[in-house]
Amino acid sequence: MMTTTDSTRRLGAAPDPALLDPAERMPVDELRARQLERLRWTLRHAYDNVPHHRRAFDAAGVHPDDCRELPDLAAFPTTGKADLRENYPFGMFAVPQDQVRRVHASSGTTGRPTVVGYTEGDLDTWAALMARSIRAAGGRAGDRLHNAYGYGLFTGGLGAHYGGEKLGCTVVPVSGGMTPRQVQLITDFAPRIIMVTPSYLLTVIDEFERQGLDPRASGLEIGILGAEPWTEQMRREIEDRMDIHAVDIYGLSEVMGPGVSQECVETKDGLHIWEDHFYPEVIDPVTGEVLPDGEQGELVLTSLTKEAMPVVRYRTRDLTRLLPGTARPGMRRMEKITGRTDDMIILRGVNLFPTQIEEVVLRTPGLSPHFALELSTRGRMDHLTVRVEARPDCPAPRRPAAAAEVAQAVKDGVGTSVEVVVVDPETLERSLGKLKRLTDLRERA
Ligand code: DLL
Repeated sequence: MMTTTDSTRRLGAAPDPALLDPAERMPVDELRARQLERLRWTLRHAYDNVPHHRRAFDAAGVHPDDCRELPDLAAFPTTGKADLRENYPFGMFAVPQDQVRRVHASSGTTGRPTVVGYTEGDLDTWAALMARSIRAAGGRAGDRLHNAYGYGLFTGGLGAHYGGEKLGCTVVPVSGGMTPRQVQLITDFAPRIIMVTPSYLLTVIDEFERQGLDPRASGLEIGILGAEPWTEQMRREIEDRMDIHAVDIYGLSEVMGPGVSQECVETKDGLHIWEDHFYPEVIDPVTGEVLPDGEQGELVLTSLTKEAMPVVRYRTRDLTRLLPGTARPGMRRMEKITGRTDDMIILRGVNLFPTQIEEVVLRTPGLSPHFALELSTRGRMDHLTVRVEARPDCPAPRRPAAAAEVAQAVKDGVGTSVEVVVVDPETLERSLGKLKRLTDLRERA
């Protein structure tokens, strides 16, 4: 594979249009009509069966019948993570327990996890949307699929698993961790597809190299990577080092799990939202006002078909913007996520996202993609330390220059000073799933 750049990125082959779901080819008018019908059903279902939604609608003075057109949704109240926590564990469910076939949960940073539930119909929809996503990424029936997303309460493992089976793949259910074994199974089973977080794929690529194996010779052709933010620079790093197509997959447990939106391998230009099942809005995170397509803000999602746990205007905290469809013209795309509102570091009045540091680190010669951020208090000021590993072939004298280049690029590009320390290879903690980039050691006043 040639070395890629943003302007000459290697793209993959589009699927045979005959393989697509009818909704993927639907004219936009037809899609909007289907969305409206499903939205009205969802609002009614939520209002009738979930006391939280009934109270929230009543308090806002809206009724499901008030939604006559899609933009009317903007008058309805949003739902947040706190609402799910307050109704822990099953208070947001809209069907009796005997219709709930499975639950998942995402670990909360503040004690209670958020619990989500699925009917049999929801599980079928999820598998179908994951199959659609894997196909959009370039996967086909008959492919072997190495699934290194974590199995368990996290939606990544089982979500990818059933989607792969539904598409007709041979799924290897490895889960995360035990990195030497990941390398062995990839080498011996020769899968065509890997599904994994981008940060853990880097750990796996490093392990190939540690064992003296060439990751580019692995036989893998497609990586379906998500569950955490990653940049175009990271895509290039992974594609070059492993000789694969690296495409983005997005989702969140509250709204279903992975498979809410997916990047198509033939365009690699952001993620098509599967709009026949989810209605997206982007709002101003401060005022809550709905923004026009193309403007950046917080993604808000409403489920259109979910039975066990419908979600109405769920505030994802993820920052992106809506763009017109390309590879699937009727479905809007969301731009690759820049960060979450709660990942934003405010450093002496300047907003900074970890992805901005990732971009700078990855374009600095001599530096590896492994870096960690630490916020602390120095005097009365917040202080950000970026620890980044040198690449194994980086000569020692190059390190201080590389550190200075990163600090300068952050100062020029973001407008704030950070301390950059280049450390030895293999000294920072490795990701085994979702990566935690930031440690906050600030003293609280
Ligand atoms: O991370 C679901 C998932 C599994 C998605 C596997 C993709 C692949 P949660 O644990 O509930 O669910 O975390 C959801 O992760 O709100 C985003 O902040 C972040 N996230 C997920 N996908 C992406 C992505 C799964 N492609 C939260 N880019 C979301 C950036 C992502 N952030």
